[in-house]
Amino acid sequence: MRSVWIPRTGPPEVLEVRDGPDPVPGPGQVLVRVRASGVNFADVSARLGLYPDAPPRPCVVGYEVAGMVERLGPGVDGNLAVGRRVVALTRFGGYAEAVAVPTPQVFPMPERMSFEEAAAIPVNYLTAVLMLRHFGNVQAGDRVLVHAAAGGVGMAAIQLCRIAGAEVIGTASAAKHAVLREAGVTHAIDYRTQDFEQEVRRLTGGRGVDIALDATGAFRKSYRTLAPLGRLVCFGFSGAVTGLSLNWLAVIPKLVSLPWFHPIRLMNDNRAVIGVNLGHLWDRMDMLRREMLALLADYEAGRIKPVVGKTFPLVEAAAAHRYIQERQNVGKVVLTVA
Ligand SMILES: NC(=O)c1ccc[n+]([C@@H]2O[C@H](COP(=O)([O-])OP(=O)(O)OC[C@H]3O[C@@H](n4cnc5c(N)ncnc54)[C@H](OP(=O)(O)O)[C@@H]3O)[C@@H](O)[C@H]2O)c1
Repeated sequence: MRSVWIPRTGPPEVLEVRDGPDPVPGPGQVLVRVRASGVNFADVSARLGLYPDAPPRPCVVGYEVAGMVERLGPGVDGNLAVGRRVVALTRFGGYAEAVAVPTPQVFPMPERMSFEEAAAIPVNYLTAVLMLRHFGNVQAGDRVLVHAAAGGVGMAAIQLCRIAGAEVIGTASAAKHAVLREAGVTHAIDYRTQDFEQEVRRLTGGRGVDIALDATGAFRKSYRTLAPLGRLVCFGFSGAVTGLSLNWLAVIPKLVSLPWFHPIRLMNDNRAVIGVNLGHLWDRMDMLRREMLALLADYEAGRIKPVVGKTFPLVEAAAAHRYIQERQNVGKVVLTVA
C-alpha cells in the first residue's frame, strides 16, 4: 500500500509517497482500506515542525479516514464485518491506503454518507462539539465569534451554532464571505484588513460576544470581544504559520507575545478562558465515541452536513497542503483513494 510520509520539515513538496506492506490488524483492531482521509491544519503544522504532538519523523500523519473494513484482527466480531463502510479516528497514519485501527475508534457509516463526507467529520465536528457544547454551553440567542469560520472546524462550528439557535459572527478572508453568509453567518469580518475587535463591538452595540473560538492566536483581542460571562476557547495557533516553510524568526516573537490570563482579572471580568486539544483526549475514547455516534445521528437526521471544499488524490497530498496554506480552502480538504 502507498502512504504519504513527512521525512523532514519543509515546504509541502517534502511530502513523500512510499510503497510498503499493508499493516496487519492486531487484537481488537480492523484493517480499513482507505477511500478518503481528512486533512487537518495540524498536519500542515506537523510538516513544518510546529506540532509538538506529531510522531517523530519520518512519520505518517492523519487523524481520520473513511473506507471499508478489509480484515478483522483477533477477537473482533460484532457489527464491523468485512466489507462494512466505516469512518475511523486514527491518530496517526491516516495518510495511507490502509490503516489498522482499534475497534472503539471505528464507526459504521450512514447509508447515504459519502466517504469524503465521512472523513470530514471526526476532527472538525468533535472539536466543535467540545468547544461549543462541553465547554461553551452554547444557548439560543448567544452570539458566537468564530475565527477562520470558512475553514474545516469553522464550518462545523457554524452548523452546531445554528442547531443551538446561536448567532455567528465569522472572520475569514474576504473571498469567503459569501459562502459564510450562505452558511448562516450573520456578519463576516475580514480579519486581515479589518480590526475584528472593533467590528465585534460595533456589531454587538458594545456588548460583545458570549463565546469566542480562536485558533489563530489572537487571544488577547478575542478575550476583549467577550461580553460579561463570556468564554474564550483557545484551540490552536495558526498565526504561527507564516509561510510554506518554518521561519523561527517570525514565530518566536508571536510565541513570546502570547498573553497570560490572571485569575484575579478573570474573576473581576466575569470571563473564562478555556483550552481544547482533541488529540489529548484519546484516552477518553468512551466520551469521543458517544459524541461521534451523536454526530452520525445528527447527519442522518439532516442536522449537520460536512462541507467538503476540495479533494485531492492521496498521492497529491503536497498540493492539498499548499492549497490550505494559501488559504484557498472553504470547508474540509480531503485526500481520496480511487
Ligand atoms: N485543539 C484542537 O483540538 C484542534 C482540532 C482541530 C483543529 N484545530 C485548529 O483549528 C484551526 C482550524 O483547523 P482546520 O483543520 O479546520 O483548518 P482550516 O480552518 O480549514 O485551515 C485553513 C484556513 O485557516 C485560515 N488561516 C488562518 N491562519 C492561517 C495561516 N497562518 N496560514 C494559512 N491559513 C490560515 C485560512 O482561512 P482564511 O482565509 O479565512 O484566513 C485557511 O483557509 C487550526 O489552527 C487547527 O490547528 C485545533
